[in-house]
Amino acid sequence: MSICLVLGWIFAVSGCTTGKNSESVKETSTETLEATTMGSTSQTEENKNKTYYEIYNETGELPSLAEVYKDYFKIGVALCREDLDTQKRKDCIASQFNSMTCGNEMKADFTLDRNATIAAGDETCPVVNMAKADVLLDFAKENGLKMRGHTLVWHSQTPRWLFTVGYDNSPDAPFVTREVMLARMENYIKQVIEHVNTKYPGLIYAWDVVNEAIDPGDGRADGLRTKNSYWFEVVGEDFIEQAFTFARKYATPEQKLFYNDYNTYEKTKLSAIYNLAQKLKEKNLIDGIGMQSHIQLSYPSLMDYEYAVTKYSELGLEVQVTELDIDATDNTKETQDKLASRYKRLLLILKSLKESGKANITSVTFWGLTDDRSWLNNDGKPSWPLLFDKDIKPKSAYFGVLQDPSVALN
Ligand code: XIL
Repeated sequence: MSICLVLGWIFAVSGCTTGKNSESVKETSTETLEATTMGSTSQTEENKNKTYYEIYNETGELPSLAEVYKDYFKIGVALCREDLDTQKRKDCIASQFNSMTCGNEMKADFTLDRNATIAAGDETCPVVNMAKADVLLDFAKENGLKMRGHTLVWHSQTPRWLFTVGYDNSPDAPFVTREVMLARMENYIKQVIEHVNTKYPGLIYAWDVVNEAIDPGDGRADGLRTKNSYWFEVVGEDFIEQAFTFARKYATPEQKLFYNDYNTYEKTKLSAIYNLAQKLKEKNLIDGIGMQSHIQLSYPSLMDYEYAVTKYSELGLEVQVTELDIDATDNTKETQDKLASRYKRLLLILKSLKESGKANITSVTFWGLTDDRSWLNNDGKPSWPLLFDKDIKPKSAYFGVLQDPSVALN
């Protein structure tokens, strides 16, 4: 064991705040040190004394995130078709990750084919065309990445015509009955799942069956989202259970069914999701909670985050971090150091929870590969939230995720 790494590690550990955390940090430190000898970085005698960052600076070589975390959970990335535009990008994805999520292409806005639906003329069966998603599914299959299926039922990125009589897309077209809508829901879920499971058997390991159905701000005691949700409006409050029932019917026994949402660590939302998941779990309809984790540099506290992970785990459910990014609104060294430190702490907590058996975390997915293409770049307000820069160069955030001693905990 190199003195340099040990010292670096002790330095990193000493940044931890709570006694509980430092305990769990100590427990994982051996594994982390062992992990530094894995991956694709050249394992010469010389390199064993160096941090990943030093090796990268000297040789340009990087380990594989997926390899470093292979004893803990899958490491994933969200991608859109445009992200497969250069060989360099594809090489980076294939070497760093072992899980993928479609950023958009498996959402109803992208999978539904209105012309084909009208032509088929079946009021209970909207027609699905997965050609756009298949570009990404092909890439995953060819490169040995597994996938999360995101997402089957969501109030957003789903066309209004899916809910109207005759699939009419005029803005005031009347909605179909609950019965017709349930048949449409079943046929939609069936087609998407059967398509991928027939063409890509074994590729998808988790389905986000329902996305973002809880919004305590809408005022209901059970926290259900009521505003701007045609699923809620047309089917009624049991649309979540119905979706899980259909997904269970068509998914393979190996595929895990997830409820996915943002702000899953906020107290009122946490308790609403917990109650919902408990009911679904009693009926054996759910296997996990997806914590999207679009977080900020100083919110939420990692204590609250950790509490949420353990709370969901008490239900006997898996937890997956499904859409991780940390909004960083400038690219100064100071901010990027903070970002790297926060990624390092968060991943360390997730490792410790997994290792101690307190939470069955099965994958951690970053919502995008490079800063310049992050969805957080909105309305001319840029963000630098991810692990790689626009030239696909690893940032300090990347080394933070690796638990590299080059990243100080601040
Ligand atoms: C985002 C995509 O990244 C964007 O390209 C798109 O314009 C909007 O949706 N929660 C989710 C994801 O579940 O599907 C969203 O993805 C981000 C928030």
